[in-house]
Amino acid sequence: MSLWGSKSSKVMMLRNVPLFKGLSQKQLEQIARLVDEVEAPAGKRLAIVGETGHELFVIVQGQAVVTLPNGRKVRLGPGEFFGEMSLVDGGPRSATVEATTPMKLLVVGHREFWQLLDEAPSLNAKVMRTLAGRLRDAEGGATA
Ligand code: CMP
Repeated sequence: MSLWGSKSSKVMMLRNVPLFKGLSQKQLEQIARLVDEVEAPAGKRLAIVGETGHELFVIVQGQAVVTLPNGRKVRLGPGEFFGEMSLVDGGPRSATVEATTPMKLLVVGHREFWQLLDEAPSLNAKVMRTLAGRLRDAEGGATA
């Protein structure tokens, strides 16, 4: 049983997440099986720089702030995701991410992350594009 209701309402919720835009009903149903829904209170640290990370988070509601090692802050809101870097290379968290309001999130575990990308190849490009943008951002180089 999902935290916010039935399986069909989970699929409806996924349909409203921009990351999953354009996916078929069947793909959304498969994805619904791979993600868990969680809530986090304001102030909760969802990723801590330097620690091992095992999940990707997709923001459904609420806001988070990413604090980069150089102290710069980046705000993230609904439809955006974080935690992909540690899943891709198995390395430690590159930044600290904290909820600044109460949040609803989808959590994707390590194994499920790769299944998700297999399930919906269009997500691959979205994750790669975001990852490349964040790397450029971290290095202070030219951005798209
Ligand atoms: P990860 O390194 O697993 O954990 C911290 C997360 O912060 C990281 O994945 C990204 O999802 C996110 N992150 C890192 N750098 C940036 C950035 N420059 N802008 C937005 N988010 C970032």
